[in-house]
Amino acid sequence: MTTTREVDEQVDKAQILVASNRGPVSFSIGDDGSLSHRRGGGGLVSGLSAIGAESDTLWVCAALSDADRKAASSAPEGRLDRAGFDVGGMRVRMLDIPPATFANAYTSVANSTLWFVHHMLYDTPNKPSFGAGFRAEWEDYRSYNAAFAEGLLTGAADNARVAVQDYHLALVPRMLRGRRPDLRIAHFSHTPWAPPEYFRMLPAEIARELLEGMLGADHLGFLSPRWADAFLRCCETFLRAEIDWSKRCVEYGGRIVNVAVHALGADAEGLRSRAAADDVAERAAALRERVGDRRLIVRVDRTELSKNIVRGLEAYRELLRDHPEWHDRVTHLAFAYPSRGDVPEYRAYTEAVRRTADEINAEFGTDSWTPLVLEVNDDYPRSLAAYRMADVLLVNPIRDGMNLVAKEGPVLSDDGCALVLSTEAGAADELGGDALLVNPYDVSETARALHTGLEMPAEERRARCGRMAEKAAALHPQRWLADQLRALG
Ligand code: G6P
Repeated sequence: MTTTREVDEQVDKAQILVASNRGPVSFSIGDDGSLSHRRGGGGLVSGLSAIGAESDTLWVCAALSDADRKAASSAPEGRLDRAGFDVGGMRVRMLDIPPATFANAYTSVANSTLWFVHHMLYDTPNKPSFGAGFRAEWEDYRSYNAAFAEGLLTGAADNARVAVQDYHLALVPRMLRGRRPDLRIAHFSHTPWAPPEYFRMLPAEIARELLEGMLGADHLGFLSPRWADAFLRCCETFLRAEIDWSKRCVEYGGRIVNVAVHALGADAEGLRSRAAADDVAERAAALRERVGDRRLIVRVDRTELSKNIVRGLEAYRELLRDHPEWHDRVTHLAFAYPSRGDVPEYRAYTEAVRRTADEINAEFGTDSWTPLVLEVNDDYPRSLAAYRMADVLLVNPIRDGMNLVAKEGPVLSDDGCALVLSTEAGAADELGGDALLVNPYDVSETARALHTGLEMPAEERRARCGRMAEKAAALHPQRWLADQLRALG
C-alpha cells in the first residue's frame, strides 16, 4: 500500500532540475538576528523563471554564507519555499554543506584552481603547486559534488531532466548517471575551457576525473565554439576518446555525449524596464552632476583577475599621455564590485586596481577634473545608469566565457556607445563585426581603441551600437535554457 507521505513525496518530485553553486537568493542577518533575503539576477534566474511557471522545477544550490546556512537549516530538507521564504514561485533546495568542506571545494578547488586553469591566470613560476594539501581539498570537492548529487537525486521524478551548471559541479553528471540511469543530464560551462597544453598542468588523475565526471552527462554546453572545441581536444588528449568533429560529439566508455554551443544573450526587455526605474534616473543625475558634460568611458565588472582591470586603467593612462587634447574632456567611470575576497590573489588585485587608479588621478587630476572615478562597491542601478550614459564601453578580459556587460551595455545605451572588446571574450564571436576588438595584453592597442571610440562620429557609433544591441538581444536567456532542455529530449 502506498502511504500518504509517499504520495506527497512523488507529487513533490520535479521534472526539471537545475543545480548551481550560487542560487537565486541570498540571505543576510539583521542586527536583531532576523533573516532577510534578496533575489539575484542573471541569465539562469530569468531563464528558469519563465520555464518554472509552466512545469515542475527544482533549483538545488549551496548555502554560501552563515546567513544562508541559518536559512537552509531552518527549512525542511533545505527547501526554502516550504519554509515560507519568497523565492519567486520556484522550489529551491539550499544545501547546508559543512563550512570547511565548502571552503575547500569552492574557494580552493573551484575558484583558486579550476577557474585559474580555464582562464589561464597562473603566474606559473610560482603557482600552481599540487601537493598533499591539494589532494585533501580535492576530497572535499568530491564530497561537495556528492552532496549536490544527493540533493538532486532525492528531488528528481522518473526520467527528469537535470541542468548542472559550471566548473563547481563537474563531477555531478557521472555521480547521477551511476545511480539513476533514467535521468537526462546536461552540464553547462559558463567559463572558457582551457586548451590541453594548459589543462595538463592539473595532476593527471584529477584531469581525467574532471573530464569523466562531465562525460556522465548526455549533453555538454559551452558559450563559444572555441571553448567547446578546447574541451573536445582535452577529451582526445587525456582520455583518448573518439571525437566526431563534424557533429561535435565524444564517444567514451560505450556512450556518445553531445557537445554543443549555446551562446547566451541579454534579457533586453527585462533590462530596459529595470533601467527605466526612478532609482536609475537618480543615479544618472548624480553621475551627470559629478562628471559634467565630459565624455564617458565606462567599465563595469566584478573585481576579478580575468577582467583585466589594471591593464584597462593603464590603457586609459596611455590615452591621456598620448592625447592631451582629452584632458578635462573625458572621465573614466570604473565600477568594480567586490568578488571572492576569500582568495588572496583577489585581495591583492583589488589593491593593485586602487593603486593604479590613484596614480592616474595624481598624474592628471586638477582641482576641477577627476580623470578617473573608481568605485569598488556594488550598486546595480548605478551600473545601469552608467550603461545608458557611456560614450565608450571598455570590456577587455584576459579570457571570458561570454561577458554579458558587452551585451547589456549596447542594449541600454541612450545615444549609442562604442564598444572596445577583447578578442578573448566569447561575446566577440557575435559582436566582433561592430566592436573595436583588442588584444587584452596590448595596452597601447587598447589605448588607441579608446581614442578611436571617443572620436567615432555619432552616426557611426549609433549604427554600430544598434546592430550590437540587436545581436545581444537575439539569444534570450529563456531560449538558452529551453534549447538545452530540448536537446535532452
Ligand atoms: C562566473 C561563474 C558563475 C559564478 C559567477 C560569480 O560567472 O561562471 O558560476 O556564480 O562567476 O562568481 P561567484 O564566485 O561570486 O559565484
